[in-house]
Amino acid sequence: MNNFTFYNPVKILFGKGQISAVSQEIPAGARVMMTYGGGSIKKNGVYDQVMEALKGFEVIEFSGIEPNPHYETLMQAVEIAKRQKIDFFLAVGGGSVIDGTKFIVAAMEYEGEDPWNIMAKREPVTKAAPFGAVLTLPATGSEMNSGSVINRVSTKEKLAFGSPFTFPKFSVLDPESTFTLPVRQISNGVVDAFSHVLEQYLTYPVNAPLQDRLAEAVLLTLKEEGPKAVQNPQDYETMANFMWAATMALNGVIRVGVPTDWATHYIAHELTALHGIDHARTLAVVFPALLRYKSETKKEKLLQYGERVWGVNTGTEDERLEATIQATIAFFESLNIKTRLSDYEVGKDTIAIIIQRFEERGVKNLGERADIQVQDVKEILALSL
Ligand code: NZQ
Ligand code: ZN
Repeated sequence: MNNFTFYNPVKILFGKGQISAVSQEIPAGARVMMTYGGGSIKKNGVYDQVMEALKGFEVIEFSGIEPNPHYETLMQAVEIAKRQKIDFFLAVGGGSVIDGTKFIVAAMEYEGEDPWNIMAKREPVTKAAPFGAVLTLPATGSEMNSGSVINRVSTKEKLAFGSPFTFPKFSVLDPESTFTLPVRQISNGVVDAFSHVLEQYLTYPVNAPLQDRLAEAVLLTLKEEGPKAVQNPQDYETMANFMWAATMALNGVIRVGVPTDWATHYIAHELTALHGIDHARTLAVVFPALLRYKSETKKEKLLQYGERVWGVNTGTEDERLEATIQATIAFFESLNIKTRLSDYEVGKDTIAIIIQRFEERGVKNLGERADIQVQDVKEILALSL
């Protein structure tokens, strides 16, 4: 097992009725900016519950944070928050609202030239305003991690940042908040969370059986609960299990002491940036291609995954590798998520654009072995056509 440091200070308030507890988590007298998206929270009672809980606080609302949150919109929130002397933020929504709020809190304290450089030049965040979250969409794990992905519309870029200062102080996970989710978002959530585990698990063995089994537990839970959630989004038990699995997929626990990949996410973000395809769908396109392309260097973990998660235990090694990748594709497709670039009407010309962008950005050494170069990205994307 590799050395590691584990730090996760996020307080989780899980279960029915927990939104009311936010009042005890926010410092008395705080001036709160409540951030949210396009209004789904007004249709499922979450908005009303949050407002009820925030009685007694000064609250300014900032709505309209888009899916794949826009830097341009978030900078407006920063301007208003500074003017209104906001000292606590409450993000209410899915990954986009939470990620967007992470950027806002970092930008509030940013002293450099342009907060976009936090992503573009990887300028470290050295302080941030405090925030909490109320999650309405299980998928990203953003509610219990410090990462964030922001889109700049003017340049069609989608870039990530993370910092120990951008963990939420607390997150409320009430499964009832998910009852209004459209099937499309549930499928997206299952595939995103599943992919998060694969990024941290399908690498190479370092004799870390506990991490392996924790990762497999999350995969098996998503395999079982995901289809049930799609079938019955108002079943409390199912949504509770799905919600906690998605959080566990990316809160840092399964990653400790093991190598991680993340090349699929890095490549897939370009497809959202260029074509607006939902994040999970871009992963469903890139992952199978990357697994095929890297099946030799990922062989041991792929075979273990195939056997323990999909019951693939007969045939030659090559047959088992292919059956494992096919099982993964079939799982994504069973959730109505297409797995080829052509399914999204994206062609070869996009590959050329991504390659050019990566060359300009100096992208190199992706993947757990730092052996995926720009030319490999080209081959991977070609396999996904
Ligand atoms: O904006 P509203 O009206 O709230 O509607 C949203 C949005 O249209 C809707 N929605 C959310 N909760 C709902 C609901 N509709 C009905 N009922 C509810 N309870 O769902 C739509 C999608 O929301 P969004 O927040 O965009 O989805 P998701 O949670 O999948 O987040 C995706 C974003 O997270 C980033 C992605 O790149 C993408 O930008 N990621 C963040 C990560 C992180 N911070 O660790 C890791 C991930 O890999 C990912 O990159
Ligand atoms: Zn993801």
